[in-house]
Amino acid sequence: MEQSLSTLSVVAPAGLRILMASSEAHPLIKTGGLADVAASLPAALRQLGHDARLIIPAYPRAARQLRESRPMCEFKMPGCRVGVRILEGLHPDHDLPVYLVDAPESFGREGNPYTDLSGRDWGDNAERFLLFCRVIVLITQGLPALGWKPDVLHGNDWQTGLAPALLKDLPERPATVFTIHNLAYQGLFDRATYERIGLPAALWSLSGLEFHQRLSFIKGGIVFSDRVNTVSPTYAAEVRTPRFGCGLDGLLRQIGHRFSGILNGIDYQDWNPASDPLILQNYDRDSFGLKAENKLDLQREFGLPRSEDAFVLGYIGRLVEQKGVDLILAILPELLRDPRIQLVVVAAGERQTEQALHDLAARHPRQVGVFIGYDETRAHRIEAGCDAFLMPSRFEPCGLNQIYSLRYGTPPIAHRTGGLADTIIHATPDMLVQGAATGFLFDEPQPQNLLNAIQQALQLYRDNPDGWRRLATTGMSQDLSWEASARQYLQLYSDAIAERQTRINAAWA
Ligand code: GLC
Repeated sequence: MEQSLSTLSVVAPAGLRILMASSEAHPLIKTGGLADVAASLPAALRQLGHDARLIIPAYPRAARQLRESRPMCEFKMPGCRVGVRILEGLHPDHDLPVYLVDAPESFGREGNPYTDLSGRDWGDNAERFLLFCRVIVLITQGLPALGWKPDVLHGNDWQTGLAPALLKDLPERPATVFTIHNLAYQGLFDRATYERIGLPAALWSLSGLEFHQRLSFIKGGIVFSDRVNTVSPTYAAEVRTPRFGCGLDGLLRQIGHRFSGILNGIDYQDWNPASDPLILQNYDRDSFGLKAENKLDLQREFGLPRSEDAFVLGYIGRLVEQKGVDLILAILPELLRDPRIQLVVVAAGERQTEQALHDLAARHPRQVGVFIGYDETRAHRIEAGCDAFLMPSRFEPCGLNQIYSLRYGTPPIAHRTGGLADTIIHATPDMLVQGAATGFLFDEPQPQNLLNAIQQALQLYRDNPDGWRRLATTGMSQDLSWEASARQYLQLYSDAIAERQTRINAAWA
């Protein structure tokens, strides 16, 4: 059992020791963009010479993919009949150490990490993620079997929110940073649950975990962390307002300078049209014309007539209100009157919307192709094969698909909000002439506005192929890799370390 990390085939860099805690990480387990960030940010931090490690629950699918996996230690935890083990190994694609929390009663379930097969939240989610947080706390206190203890705990989203709350009075606590990837998911449970799961009574207060008479996991992260951020500067400003604040805008205004926005990067190794093994034809800025081969391949794959002349729009994402798929559905009858427009979709979520998409594809077999489910390979092929990418999200903390589409020369058409506003430069006549434009933004998420933006895109595509090519290749030239963002996180970590010290000094004063 007592093995030291030196047996792993990575060299621990000097610099900061950072524990990245997340409920999902690509490709171990993924339901959304959080998974991409949870894997690629720590990998980028290691590239910069820091000892970042990742911790996630040992879902069966994650445990199967871990490289060089070994059990390191086993202990009893409250509420668990069998012992909890820590498995240690390496991320499948990066030299990134990963700890898996192996608690079979809580995490030994196939499928979605948060919901059962029918799409309902698991009834014991509060217990499951409290357990996850308790184990994270143990690791931050230094488990002898691991021989490693972080300077900074970086939690992500509500599933990790209780860790900073449980750490707050521990003298040996690390500095804590908490990232909000989506404020709409807060981890809310009733008071009976609070009492059942055995959280300290003192945390039930307005300045603690209580939120309108309910237990709020996310408040734990926001109230008790040294630094809090979200994933774009515009979303950070938006969530301080009632319209986007999901009831927490007051708290976010109140924490003032402790709260900021840092734009996500993307993994340039995974998402590179010049070397992507999942697409038919690799291409780059200089060989942009080759991209058309991927369009023909995509049409074949989705059973649409193969035509270079078609204007192919793509959509990838979860089918929830946030993503604004209803706007797409609302304008399709009008849009599809032009027989040269096609739409391909890879999506899953609300059953009703899935059905509506199926019906559309059945009604327009030559124009609409739909795949229900999340599928990484198809996602890459859509980014490579489409002409433009739709992202009408009502709100979007950062959004990664629009960044992938920029990189693949597939200009995004998006609502001007959150990270979409921060990553896309709208094609005004001026910006087009200057060669600065990268996509199309519309204000207010209304069907007509989306339709107008698509028509603007279509007009440029048809009437001015050189202008279109310039737009697409300008997007391909942006640097949206992790490097710059990872450096901003390093600054945030050092601010958090300073804040922790200030708080300790204040407690002693
Ligand atoms: C969530 C947000 C998305 C963001 C991602 C990663 O999925 O909805 O906007 O890009 O997290 O931070």
